[in-house]
Amino acid sequence: MRVFGRNDTMRKPANCVLVIFGASGDLTHRKLMPALYNLYRRELMPDQFAVVGTGRTKLSDDDFRANMARAVNAHSDADCALVDRFLESVFYQPVDTKAPDDFHSLKERLTSIDETWNTEGNYLYYLSTPPSLFTNIVENLGSCGLQVEDDATGWSRLIVEKPFGTDLASARTLNRDLQRVFKESQIYRIDHYLGKETVQNLLVFRFGNGIFEPLWNRNYIDRIEVTAAESIGVGSRGGYYDQAGALRDMVQNHLLQVVGMIAMEPPSSFEADAVRNETLKVFDSIRPLDADEVAAHVVRGQYTAAKVAGEQLPGYRDEEKVSAESKTETYAAVKLHIDNWRWGGVPFYIRSGKRLPTRVTEAVIHFKQAPHHLFGQPSERCVEDNQLVLRIQPDEGILVKFNMKLPGSGFQTQAVNMDFHYSDLSNVYVPEAYERLLLDCMLGDATLYARGDAVEACWEFVQPILDAWKSNPTIKVFGYPGGTWGPREAAALYNRPGDDWRYPCKNLTDDGEYCEL
Ligand code: BG6
Repeated sequence: MRVFGRNDTMRKPANCVLVIFGASGDLTHRKLMPALYNLYRRELMPDQFAVVGTGRTKLSDDDFRANMARAVNAHSDADCALVDRFLESVFYQPVDTKAPDDFHSLKERLTSIDETWNTEGNYLYYLSTPPSLFTNIVENLGSCGLQVEDDATGWSRLIVEKPFGTDLASARTLNRDLQRVFKESQIYRIDHYLGKETVQNLLVFRFGNGIFEPLWNRNYIDRIEVTAAESIGVGSRGGYYDQAGALRDMVQNHLLQVVGMIAMEPPSSFEADAVRNETLKVFDSIRPLDADEVAAHVVRGQYTAAKVAGEQLPGYRDEEKVSAESKTETYAAVKLHIDNWRWGGVPFYIRSGKRLPTRVTEAVIHFKQAPHHLFGQPSERCVEDNQLVLRIQPDEGILVKFNMKLPGSGFQTQAVNMDFHYSDLSNVYVPEAYERLLLDCMLGDATLYARGDAVEACWEFVQPILDAWKSNPTIKVFGYPGGTWGPREAAALYNRPGDDWRYPCKNLTDDGEYCEL
């Protein structure tokens, strides 16, 4: 296979030390350490590097290495000898994020590691702690001068995990807190959806092909759907999720970022700011919803108990650490408009939910019908609309649906598929989102990270919805049985007969209750 173009994944970053705050957390175990190990296995880590885990617990380097060996073995395709070699560069430093003295000790440790490992004074700090600690950590790093970067000392970068704020005001405050210590160019706000290969492929699909981009506008596109469905429930994350809900957890960040990639204008280059300027313009053009429009444009739901494939699954309110009266939405569907030249009049329907029938993330571009109905009565929709389905996960690929004539007399039509699966590419390794994003940050490429102004612009769209939900008790929360496609009311967002969401599979149950909560 011939591979054309820029391939940064072949570039090695400069030597550096990665410091993980929240090293005993789930993310470090499931994602960060396995991603770093995979980069090491693929020979993409710097020639000289060290990873320093920090946390409140007092652990020795060896204790931490033993924990990380378990994490890497459980969550990657690990080779024992290679894992051992990788772990030689892994260390642990106890840090209470509220204790300034601990940051002085951290600085001493980092200086000593830097000298021994020859990491040239380059530091990447990863904030993977609860968000309430972000500001503290950043201020303490600043007080020790650990944020300084210049030609003499090396670079210093900060990755901030989600959630980035819980509403518009807190996101603004967090931006200000971070920017008081780090320059915007040093801050990398992670949205792991941007690290997914198939999300990045949206850009290549659009701007690397001559076929589709001329059609990519209001003249040819009728509507666009973006779905992120999960079959799992809230699991052990009830404590966090009950305060967040689907709108904050998935829509404000991941889904709007995907909308940004689908709707943006071609950037003048693939430099970080050129790309991010264009996605920001999309977010700024999303039509704000007035309080009295929220009920008609947004549907929220919560899963109820249901029997799925013979298994009785609990309702959301029965999950661990969830309030028995909770009204938190585990499903949100939004109809939005992007008021600009390209998208005027084209509705975007976006939805995300937990405990739906399957796990699938996809964007569906519905093209307009042919202008003249040759194959049926003018009033009938006798052919399906042409659809382009960009399957983000799983079974990553691209599907084009078009109509053809059924063999035989007359002109009966049938929709057929042209289907590409990433899995058809032989010997191509599809890296995990965190691998790509960690590598990009070490390389100093922020293209796939959210900029502060974009995060705020997304919150600006979401905030009136949160406000309306809070202040208007007549806006309903609809119960939907686990294993179904969510509240039936979500179909009403489509106000044209015959239009509905795409359902990649059927409901898994007839059991359970659709109700108002
Ligand atoms: C996270 C959300 O950001 O994304 C989770 O907090 C969600 O609730 C997850 O399950 C989905 O990510 P992915 O990569 O599995 O689609």
